[in-house]
Amino acid sequence: TQRYAVIGNPIAHSQSPYIHLEFARLQGVPLAYERLLAPLDGFAASVRDFVAGGGHGLNVTLPFKLEAHELARQHLTERARAAGAVNTLTFRDGEVHGDNTDGIGLTRDITVNLDVAIAGKNVLVLGAGGAVRGVLLPLLEQKPASVTLVNRTLDKAQQVAADFAGWGRIEVCAYEQLAGRHFDIVINGTSAGLSGALPPLPDGVLTDSELVYDMVYGKGLTPFLARAQAERAGMLSDGLGMLVEQAAESYRIWHGVQPETRPVMNSLRDLLA
Ligand code: ATR
Repeated sequence: TQRYAVIGNPIAHSQSPYIHLEFARLQGVPLAYERLLAPLDGFAASVRDFVAGGGHGLNVTLPFKLEAHELARQHLTERARAAGAVNTLTFRDGEVHGDNTDGIGLTRDITVNLDVAIAGKNVLVLGAGGAVRGVLLPLLEQKPASVTLVNRTLDKAQQVAADFAGWGRIEVCAYEQLAGRHFDIVINGTSAGLSGALPPLPDGVLTDSELVYDMVYGKGLTPFLARAQAERAGMLSDGLGMLVEQAAESYRIWHGVQPETRPVMNSLRDLLA
């Protein structure tokens, strides 16, 4: 069997092995999928060892997505090039191929699993780091009516908008400028919640939104979703579906079949509870 793995630092808590092995098990095919802890200064060497040992594909997580992009610079998909980051490496004929499946993972979770159309909607995206860069191209490809990007550090958001200008218009604003404004879909791509903090959104912005989506996930409501619930937003979703859908797209790239995601989303949710 071909070898696959997820590589990162830290890596112990990655759910990718569980998700990929479940996809394979549900399809009745064997799969070898491990966790690889790479030293912070040893990503490229770890990848070389993996390939030398018969490795065929790697999922890449923090903090190596930029280095993976660099490693695959000869063979990048458009969405990986736009993101500036790679989460899926494939080793074929002595070449390294890079893709980024995070954005399609997000848009599939929203449009298919949650059944919320992005096309024609006004979308607010919070944050301007790697997580947001990773998803903007697939989001723009859904043809929303507008995309507004808000970030504490305005220059970073302006740089992101400039970098994506070839794919679509992104309006940039500061948090305080959002007072009194409303959006159909709000996507939190900040890392604020990881430290229990909330992005400084003015009160009421989330009220009556059709969907508030948090790209992170965990047990129970994330702090951002709790805020959205308190403000009476419509539908709430954390990023567990995105996690499973980005894995599904990697699986499709490697194995040529689209795995069934719903049962894996359900069992992963049970595991977290
Ligand atoms: P990632 O790769 O997860 O996107 P990152 O590149 O460090 O990580 O970006 C983190 C994002 O979360 C940034 O947009 C950051 O805002 P700044 O650019 O202004 O720093 C945002 N963020 C982190 N903590 C935040 C908080 N407490 N409130 C609002 N935004 C926050």
